[in-house]
Amino acid sequence: MKAAPKSPQDLLQANVKSHLQDLMELMKIPSISFEGFPVSEMERSGDAVAALLKKRGLENVEIFRLPGAFPFVYGDYCHAPGKPTLLLYAHHDVQPAGNPERWSSPPFEPTLREGPGGMRLYGRGAADDKAGIVLHTAAIASFLEAGQELPVNVKVIIEGEEECGSSHLEGFLKKYRSRLDADVLVIADMGNFDIGVPALTMALRGIVGVHIEVSGLDKSVHSGMWGGPVPDPAMALSKMLASLVDDQGRIAIPGVLEQVEPLSEAERREFARIPYREEDFRKQSGMLPGSEILGGALEDGISPMVRLFRKPSLTVNAIEASSRLTAGNIINRSAWSKVTIRLVAGMDPEKVLAQLKAHLAKHTPWGMELKITGEAASPAWSTQMKGPAFDAAYAALERGYGKAPLTLGSGGSIPFVRSFSDALGGVPALLVGVEDPYTNAHGENESVGVSDFEKGCLSHIYLFEELAKRWGK
Ligand code: BES
Ligand code: MN
Ligand code: MN
Repeated sequence: MKAAPKSPQDLLQANVKSHLQDLMELMKIPSISFEGFPVSEMERSGDAVAALLKKRGLENVEIFRLPGAFPFVYGDYCHAPGKPTLLLYAHHDVQPAGNPERWSSPPFEPTLREGPGGMRLYGRGAADDKAGIVLHTAAIASFLEAGQELPVNVKVIIEGEEECGSSHLEGFLKKYRSRLDADVLVIADMGNFDIGVPALTMALRGIVGVHIEVSGLDKSVHSGMWGGPVPDPAMALSKMLASLVDDQGRIAIPGVLEQVEPLSEAERREFARIPYREEDFRKQSGMLPGSEILGGALEDGISPMVRLFRKPSLTVNAIEASSRLTAGNIINRSAWSKVTIRLVAGMDPEKVLAQLKAHLAKHTPWGMELKITGEAASPAWSTQMKGPAFDAAYAALERGYGKAPLTLGSGGSIPFVRSFSDALGGVPALLVGVEDPYTNAHGENESVGVSDFEKGCLSHIYLFEELAKRWGK
């Protein structure tokens, strides 16, 4: 008797360990795209991703190059005439690892251990976003290993500069747009609602950022000998930063909040479905017991879960003057900070950037010198979850996770999404991924749940099938 032919799902289940192994191999490369980290690791990471795409059956694998940009890796498999073409996106760069002492296992030594929801894989990039790369390769490979053709055409694009602001997207589109024609964008760089509870993301915030340097001296000096008449640049910076928000943490830069598009009645109704429990919110964000939820449980009738993607916010990401190690009794010659603002519907990034800079200039005290660099600006994005592509994604997640997905907005930003869905003429963008509220992306001990990783891969297989089935109907 002949054995029944194996399905892609069977192959995924049989080979999930080897896909997890692919993920671990990618995680060993510290592909940090921030300034000051070795470019050679970004190159090594690009090469490793290209090799993985080839190994998993993709064709025409190529590293797309743009002067000054980190490698974008491309591969395709287009043998389904008449079927839709998916542009599958993830990014292979990661954020810096933060404080090494706060990692339970070294950030670039992928480690499996128990954690929230069972077995988890720990290390930088585990979820954000090396898992996204492997979701694509695992799904594609499962069809090919089952001896089947893919039910759709796929073009895989793995970005190398997402975490540092995607500053070459425009040039990239100019050069490569014609090779990236697609009917649907699939972005694997998101989070689920909870462990085992999938989500489809329908909104992202935009982002505006600056690096601020305030200087008052040509050298650091003794704070006893000179303190008083000589102004302190670190204090000047502190006052400037404090002027950016009111006592409820709301942005206090004139003209910024005014841009926010008020929530429509339809949005209010739709968002009322998004669950919010203070207890979960506190636990997942890691807020200490005394720490207040700004705006309370309902600001303007809007819960914190909704404010995360439908209200703007301002964060001081870093401050540097002296350091703990060199905290002598000195007046520091200069002080530095990175500030970012998250944008929502209605906000114009360039305008907010100009308002932020003008506000900082106006609030620079004591004749200190102000230098602003590292400017970044990209708009918010949102979509109506309607049409066959969204139906397909919904069905695929429901099949893969055994639970209906929630449609959620996310507070994070991915400049690629807006640029590409616009460039491709407004094609639907499906935002999925395997982060969960315990992932701690960008922080220490980043992790991905092994069981959700598998469910995510499975959903990706179903997504190809569901899209093929619904296309043109
Ligand atoms: N994957 C995240 C975006 C994200 C965050 C999606 C939370 C869903 C939930 C992405 O890698 C990211 O971190 N983006 C940066 C963009 C910035 C550098 C322009 C961000 O949001 O800070
Ligand atoms: Mn990401
Ligand atoms: Mn990220």
